[in-house]
Amino acid sequence: MIIRPRRLRVTPAMRRLVAETRVHPSQLILPMFVREGLTEPIPISSMPGVVQHSLDSMRRAISEAAELGVGGVMLFGVPEHKDAVGSGATDPNGILNVATRAAVAEAGDALVVQTDLCLDEFTDHGHCGVLDARGRVDNDASLVRYRDMGVAQAEAGSQLLGLSGMMDGQVAAVRDALDSADFAQTPILGYAAKYASAFYGPFREAVQSTLQGDRRSYQLDAGNRREGAREVLLDVEEGADVVMVKPAMSYLDVLADAAAISPVPVWAYQVSGEYAMIEAAAANGWIDRERAVAESVTSIVRAGADAVLTYYASELARNL
Ligand code: PBG
Repeated sequence: MIIRPRRLRVTPAMRRLVAETRVHPSQLILPMFVREGLTEPIPISSMPGVVQHSLDSMRRAISEAAELGVGGVMLFGVPEHKDAVGSGATDPNGILNVATRAAVAEAGDALVVQTDLCLDEFTDHGHCGVLDARGRVDNDASLVRYRDMGVAQAEAGSQLLGLSGMMDGQVAAVRDALDSADFAQTPILGYAAKYASAFYGPFREAVQSTLQGDRRSYQLDAGNRREGAREVLLDVEEGADVVMVKPAMSYLDVLADAAAISPVPVWAYQVSGEYAMIEAAAANGWIDRERAVAESVTSIVRAGADAVLTYYASELARNL
């Protein structure tokens, strides 16, 4: 036998030297939930270790993430009052915009403050857009709301707008609105290939959304790989500065496709249900938690993600 691949696996030093994938704290992005009216953070039961932040606890978590070298945070707002059009999303005093101003002041230049641009946290029906008279999600009317939301977020200081609503034309619409409002330098992250996934389950608790129906008329079907690539190309054409594949672990093939065809950075989102699965199995002693966390994020980077949104961002950055 001449070829013995095990030669390169003999010692930890050798394995480190030949490692093909290295995860760096700067490519981790921490999603955070900020709830209106809180004085103390509230735990999210389906995501042990993750909380709904008060403004103060958000500031502390951002300063910790920055010290650990985490690349960015992605903010989600949980408003006290929700309505049919998601008014809180465009209100300069809405929780997400208030939190963004506080986050930017806290972060300085240490990390990139990003915001979720979608209506579902703000609507009483829980959909990512507004509804028409027959109760269907109205694509073009939703774009009008996204345009205003984008400008409100840019005015609040958001440094990257994460368009997660999956409306057709959303990147082009928000790009145009930003450019018309003198925010030509504000970049857009298009959630290009976002699948209708059971793995968003715990997120609903995190943002207290009681979704009426499902999102299958705007998010992709799990089995559609080519369509994921199509959405990536479309978002790039519309001016997305970064594209996203979401969820991550069940969609590594889509991620690899996106990495192969995209001229802009490709990110992936390890979503709430992926987090919850690792936590639940680890709590039962069925898997080694730390190893599972590191392996999951390494695999997402190996498949082609330039950066990963993960609830483990700060913890991983500490351990790397
Ligand atoms: C929509 C949005 C969702 C998530 C992020 N943005 C939920 C959905 O589309 O149903 C899920 C994130 C997660 O599960 O961690 N604004």
